[in-house]
Amino acid sequence: MILFFTGALLLSCSTNESYAQDERIPSLKKVFDKNFLIGAAINARAIEEKDKAADALIIQQFNAVTPENIMKAEIIQPGWDSYNFDLADKLVAFAQKNKINVNAHTLIWHSQLPPFMRRMKDVDSVRKYFVDHITKVAARFDGKVYSWDVVNEALNEDGTLRNSIFLQALGDSYVVEAFRLAQKASPHSKLYYNDYNIEQPKKRAGAIALIKKIQSAGVRIDGVGIQGHWRADNVPMNEIEESITEFSALGIEVMFTELDLSVLKNPWDNNSANVSDTAKGNSSMNPYVSGLPDSVEQIQSKAYGDLFRLFLKYKTNVTRITFWGVNDGQSWLNNWPIGGRTNYPLLFDRNFKPKPAFYSVIATATSGNN
Ligand code: G3I
Repeated sequence: MILFFTGALLLSCSTNESYAQDERIPSLKKVFDKNFLIGAAINARAIEEKDKAADALIIQQFNAVTPENIMKAEIIQPGWDSYNFDLADKLVAFAQKNKINVNAHTLIWHSQLPPFMRRMKDVDSVRKYFVDHITKVAARFDGKVYSWDVVNEALNEDGTLRNSIFLQALGDSYVVEAFRLAQKASPHSKLYYNDYNIEQPKKRAGAIALIKKIQSAGVRIDGVGIQGHWRADNVPMNEIEESITEFSALGIEVMFTELDLSVLKNPWDNNSANVSDTAKGNSSMNPYVSGLPDSVEQIQSKAYGDLFRLFLKYKTNVTRITFWGVNDGQSWLNNWPIGGRTNYPLLFDRNFKPKPAFYSVIATATSGNN
């Protein structure tokens, strides 16, 4: 298992990359070096090093990356016996070259399944896919990736198991079996459960029961990922603090794995990240096309600062913070739940320039909290 730290790397980039980041800009991975990993979800263009500005920022700011889409089943296993590891191999090479840890995402998820599996009802076929996919993919990247989101979003909001093809065909022990197979195939990578809204009491209780079930089966689980898709003016701080203490009590790592603070309203205004809940909107749902008002920028900046003060308060339990994207322009929140909106959920703007929220986060590390 590889764990890379900062240091000399920054220098090498600045001398030969015309897109080199301005070294007067502090580095997130440097200022939080003694606390937790700092990461970003990255897309295919960054992985193939076709987006120089993004790559320079990723290398300067982050010591962890999560592939936003390219290690998901529909891309990495397009056919029963056909696997496409091209982009995933490039990701590992990019990460190794730049001393960055890869959190691979994700082995078992009800969404972005390969076409041949989407409506699969035959139990033996689901089991064959389940065993083959975990075993083949996890074994190939054993020790090359720092960690896996072994199972993603298996729970409903009330904490019960989501009615996926895996539950229908394999029953309610499929999550334990997924971790058992991953543990066998990838002894040198950490294994995590990842979900959204598991800071909310009912869903949190379901996640805790699931983790205890894996542990009592004698199977390895190293941590839990709270995705963190929240609204900048509605971050559930109390629930987040409770979830850090309750999950840590299980003896596992706690991570915030897909952090973004939207400044736009959702049609239903709850914090769901369920991709099927799309809705048609109007200009009132897309009010910041020509720029973000200072008042909203300040709300987001304070929200990110408050979050990082909380993460630092629990730095012995919180091991990684990953933003879901590199800059505002690349965020999935420009096209979800309503397509074609202009959102500003991250720390860097559409020109890769740090926003006030970035300096608010940096200030939490330099003001003696860490
Ligand atoms: O690659 C195709 C491209 O060929 C095609 O031209 C284009 C137009 O339809 O679609 C492209 O695929 C898109 C893919 O992202 C790559 O950009 C899919 O339509 C789109 O649905 C997919 O969205 C991803 C979404 O997961 C799908 O579920 C988002 O980028 C990604 O940020 C999002 O990430 C999820 C996490 O994995 C799990 N947690 C929630 C999070 C947000 O939904």
